[in-house]
Order: sequence, then structure tokens, then C-alpha cells
Amino acid sequence: MCGIVGFSGVRPAAPVLLDGLKKLEYRGYDSAGIAIMGDAGISVNKVTGRIANLCEKTHDGADVPGFTGVGHTRWATHGAPTEENAHPHLSNDGRFAIVHNGIIENYIALREELIKDGFTFQSETDTEVIVHLLEKYYKGNVRDALIKTTNRLRGSYALGVICTEQPEKIFAVRESSPLIIGVGVEENYFASDVTALVAYTRNAIYMDDGEYAELTKDAVKVFDCTGSEIKKEVTRITWDVQAAEKGGYEHFMLKEIMEQPAAIKATIAPRLKDGNIFFEEFDISADELKKIRKIVITACGSAYYAGCSGKYALEKLCHIPVEVELASELRYSDPLIDKHTLLIVISQSGETADTIAAMKECKERGAKTLAIVNVVGSSIAKLADYTLYTWAGPEIAVATTKGFTTQLAVLYLLALSFAEKLECITEEEYTKYMGELHTLPRHIQQAIDMNSKIPKLAKKYHKSSSLFFIGRNTDYAVALEGALKMKEISYLHAEAYAAGELKHGTIALIEDHQPVVALCCNPSIMEKTLSNIVEVKARGAEVLALTFRNNQKILSTADDFLFIPNVDAVFSAAIEIIPLQLLAYYVAKENGCDIDKPKNLAKSVTVE
Ligand code: BG6
Repeated sequence: MCGIVGFSGVRPAAPVLLDGLKKLEYRGYDSAGIAIMGDAGISVNKVTGRIANLCEKTHDGADVPGFTGVGHTRWATHGAPTEENAHPHLSNDGRFAIVHNGIIENYIALREELIKDGFTFQSETDTEVIVHLLEKYYKGNVRDALIKTTNRLRGSYALGVICTEQPEKIFAVRESSPLIIGVGVEENYFASDVTALVAYTRNAIYMDDGEYAELTKDAVKVFDCTGSEIKKEVTRITWDVQAAEKGGYEHFMLKEIMEQPAAIKATIAPRLKDGNIFFEEFDISADELKKIRKIVITACGSAYYAGCSGKYALEKLCHIPVEVELASELRYSDPLIDKHTLLIVISQSGETADTIAAMKECKERGAKTLAIVNVVGSSIAKLADYTLYTWAGPEIAVATTKGFTTQLAVLYLLALSFAEKLECITEEEYTKYMGELHTLPRHIQQAIDMNSKIPKLAKKYHKSSSLFFIGRNTDYAVALEGALKMKEISYLHAEAYAAGELKHGTIALIEDHQPVVALCCNPSIMEKTLSNIVEVKARGAEVLALTFRNNQKILSTADDFLFIPNVDAVFSAAIEIIPLQLLAYYVAKENGCDIDKPKNLAKSVTVE
């Protein structure tokens, strides 16, 4: 996720663009740049790091005169965070500059075509193909060139463009990435969200997919994909800047919970092509896979629990033994790792000290390393032999949500890809699981929509002194993450137990009104968990069951319910965790906790 801004007016553009980018930094902050239309053509300034570096480089924009321009703050997806990869990107003829938020899924083929056409590339980004297509299709009309260009693109994009042939105009295009126009007085703007606009105007036009806008200092025109002008409603923005940064949500954590369907789609869609799974960053042959005797997954915190869930999918589909190890333990355990081990390292930040140390330990012992990280160019990404990115966008809340579910999405893709290569599953099974992957974003949205009662449930449970989370097999792995979410943000004591273990001691703790969250989403062991529910109820527990809507046996036994759509257990963890994230969030809200910044916790622990 990146932030883009555009300005056309009668006053200097650069300071307005820089100010807007500062408000969008939460959307991405590993590099930034602005392109300003000057008397001698387009002037581009780009930096790595925060917007402050760009302000310093341009003396808060004073060094870059001009009344029209575009700007960008980057969260790298394709290409490390370097100046060359930072936006804006220029066409070879210097006529166009472009900024982009989104992912171009077919950029590799387009890049090859454009290189054959004689275009030269300055960056590793997917974005740069767009500006060269613009040059290729420009015959005197920018809008025509934009329409021809975007007809070639597959993926998501919010584009900002300036062109030397129309120096007072800025162009914007929206497809599956947010883009809002700000209507000012003798100046007009566009931005990725209202955060960048509210300081200048509260009159906004929300662009829809497939729309093209052309803005000058005193005119705003919007066109459809045929080039016909359309009438758009002007909306009055009532949000303040802080609320706008959170997309209108009270906390980043709730915003990021709600972003999960889109984050999963951004992570999965570019890797599914014509019914196959395709990792542009990683290719391992069936022969190499056959030499792997075991997979070791190592991580910390929620990333570790993602590994616990991923283990079930990998073992069931690929029949390769999988061990999941806490990085802080693995690094000192004199691990039995060798060249026949595939080490999968999971980390949202890519900077967790224990995880880095464990990874180095295993590399020294000959393991092949595959990293699943969310931050492009992070330490773990640089250390790994292979890296698969979770394109979740920046995750601001300390307690991870979309980071966790996109890690699972990548693990599911890996499991199915390996299984197909090793011929461990039938054509029918492969088709079935591919269908489950395609519908994962929709099922996650359903899991959000099915649980509108959670704020009410939170009022019932928020004063509990402790909560038990129980489950078996795939449900147990999710229970671990569900309990951690509750502890992290609501500070209530919560523990996850393998449901079959209750009788070996833990059940001694069950007394009247003890809340027990029972996960019952795996049909193959549902009956067993049902008997555990009966056991704890017999000792006075209040049971909050997480299950399918039509699960009558559970519905007639438990006291309260969280629901998920009926899905196959192999990929259900990414869906089951949604109601538990929401439960933890609303309990924490009831307790007045600092949800985005819980006490004693850090977003990434870069020390031992
Ligand atoms: C903790 C975070 O500090 O580190 C957790 O609060 C996270 O959300 C854990 O799961 C591991 O961090 P990372 O960046 O390696 O996934």
C-alpha cells in the first residue's frame, strides 16, 4: 500500500505535495518522491526513508518551483526501497511522470514487450511499465494514451500523471485502489485518502473503478473508460485528520482487521494464473523438493502461531514432516538441521532479532531458507535464499492481524504448490483447494459480517479474570493465536489448551462461570471437541463456541457463538481467527485499553 498525491493551482505545488505525503506516511514510508512541472520540463526528486528526507533534500519544496505536480510515499512490493525504485517514474522521452499505488500483476510480460520495443528501465518496479506504455501509446492526447495503457494492465492501480504537453493539468486513474479528488479554490488535488486533503478542502469527489480524472487549477473533469465525461457528486468530508488516517475507524487494529480480505487478495491473486500457482520470486523443482527430508518453520509471537497452523496444511498436502520451532528456542537448541532441511522463516517486520539469529544458525548448518515477510528489503528478506512477500501493506497496530492472515495465505499457496509438484494430491483435490484459495478473501469478509454480535459478547466477558481457548488439531493452532490476541490487547489472562489435554490437569481450573472459548471448525474431530464442551459445562463453565452456522449439535450445547462460513479445515485458520481478533478487540475496547500500542509491547522486537 502506498500513498499518492497530486496538485494543480496558482501557488507552489511542492510544499502542498510534501505536506500531503506526510499525512499519508502511515500508508508506506520506505521511500518517497515528487515530480514538479517546471519551465524546463519535469523536475523529479526522490529519497529513501521518510518524507522528512525529501523535505530536507528540497528545502521543504522551495528548491522546486512549479504549480503542478505529483508525489508518492512508498511501501515497497516489487523492488527494494531504493531511490531508483522510488516513485515518480519518468518516461524515456521525459514527457511523462507517474506515481502509482497498487500491484500490476502482468508487469513481467509487459516489461519484456517494452524492452523489445526499445524502452529502457531504470527500476525493478512493476510501476515503471505504466509510464513506458504511456509513451508508447501517446499520439497527442493524454487521456487516449491513458485509456490504451490501462487496458493493458491487470491488477490494482491508483495512478497520478503529469505530462509536459499539458503542463497545467494533472491526470488520475482509479482501478481497485482508493483515489479521491479534492476540490479547492483556484487549486485542485487528488490523494489516496482524505487524510492528505482535509487541511486544504473538505469538498471531495470519490473516484470509482475505471474512471479517469483531469484536474487544472480551476476545473475538475471525470471520464469513464470510453472517454465520455461523467458527472460526479461532491461529498463534504466531516472526518478530522486523525480519523482519516485510520480510514474512519477508531483504531488502526480495527482498520487492519477490516483490510484483511483486500490484503489476502493482494497476496494471493498475483500468484494465481490460469489455474496454477506461480511464485515470481521463488521456484523450486520437484527434484529439489524430493531431497527435502523435513521442513522447519521458525518465528516469534503470532508469526510462530501462523507456522503452527501452516504445519497442518503442509503435512496434509505435501506429506513432508514439519516442525514448528520458537526462534528464541531454536537458536540455542543445537538444532538437527542440514542441507536436507527447508527452513521457512516467518516475520511481519523482517527484523525480529530472535528470528534472525535462529535463521543464521540454521543457514550455517546448511538449511535452504525461505522467508515469508511483509517488509521488502528487510534484514530477513536479505538473508534468505528465497523470499515470498505478504503484500499486506504497512501494519501499524502492534498486535498483528492482516500480517498473520497473509502469512497463512502464503503458507497455503506453498503447501498446494509443493503438493502439486510432488504429485501428492489428485487433480480433483488440487482443483478443490485452488477454489478454497480463490474464495478465501470472500470467506474472510463473511466471517467479519457474520459476527456483528461480538461487541455485545465483549460486554459479557470483558471482566473475566481469565479465559480458556480450547481446540483440537487445526483448531488448537488457531486457539493459540486467539489467546495471544486477547492477552496482548485486553490484558486479560488467557490460555490456549489442546482440548484433549483438559482431562490431564487443566480441567481442575474450571469452576462456575469460567469462560471457555471452544473452537469447533474441523468436522473430522468435532465430536471430540463437543465432548470437551460437555465436560467443562458440567463443571460450570460458560462456553463461547466458534463454529459453522448450521452446526446444530454445538448450537444446542454451548452458551454463546461465533461463526464462520462452512470451509475446508485445511485452509480454515485464516478465517477462524477473524472472530477471535474481533473478540479481543472489543473486550480491549470495553476495558479502555490502548489497543494500537499495548503496554510493554513493540511492533518489532529487534533486540534479544
Ligand atoms: C511481536 C509483535 O513483538 O513480535 C507480534 O507484537 C509479532 O505481533 C512478533 O507476531 C513477531 O514479529 P515479526 O515482525 O517477526 O512477525
